[in-house]
Amino acid sequence: MNQQDILQKTAEYIQQEFSHDSSGHDWWHIYRVWKNAITICEHENADSFIVQLAALLHDLDDWKFNDSADETPLRAQGWLDSLNLDRSVTDAVCNIIIHISYKGAGVQNKMDSLEGFIVQDADRLDAIGAIGIARAFAYGGYKNRPLYDPDSPPQLHASFEEYKNSKSATINHFYEKLLLLKDVLNTPTAKRIAEQRHEYMEQFLSQFMNEWEGKDVG
Ligand code: ADP
Ligand code: NI
Repeated sequence: MNQQDILQKTAEYIQQEFSHDSSGHDWWHIYRVWKNAITICEHENADSFIVQLAALLHDLDDWKFNDSADETPLRAQGWLDSLNLDRSVTDAVCNIIIHISYKGAGVQNKMDSLEGFIVQDADRLDAIGAIGIARAFAYGGYKNRPLYDPDSPPQLHASFEEYKNSKSATINHFYEKLLLLKDVLNTPTAKRIAEQRHEYMEQFLSQFMNEWEGKDVG
């Protein structure tokens, strides 16, 4: 199989695996990350095959949906092994998947390759803007979280454990992650795309708070 066929086959596999999700991590999230990654890649001197494979496989072993304590992304690795790729490709893709997730405001990013920076940015762009807002509330509903609780302020989590175990309202997630993303993006292209998406979230939050207090009288 050539690289194009491998990507196509991987996309079909992932489309099948993610077809029933309603937490904002459905196939179309993966599709958008894939397309964002291709766009960013056009401005960087990176290995597009590794970038695209990692974008397609990035959420297959996500901690939010798997309770494996193991760091190795077993499902992605199993899929890559079935394709008989060079060991170096499989290792590079798995390394990206291990480090892609946001782990809390105070937790250091351990991503260490250009390909990884690109996929991480592509994933983070899909967490902000109009789509990011929609996904946050979809995930909050999936986790039975309230929309907003004025009595529980946001927390900047210092460890992944704290971030992972938090049960706070979805509005808090904007302050705990979504509004922080624009300053931790890796590539200039993603930073440019993020500007408008970030502003849109700020407008949304300001409108939300005005409506909450009945202060949106024209
Ligand atoms: P990451 O691996 O960085 O978490 P994902 O692709 O798994 O990235 O998607 C993360 C998305 O899941 C967030 O952008 C948000 O929409 C949703 N999410 C995660 N945690 C929360 C939360 N506590 N409240 C609301 N949404 C959340
Ligand atoms: Ni993702």
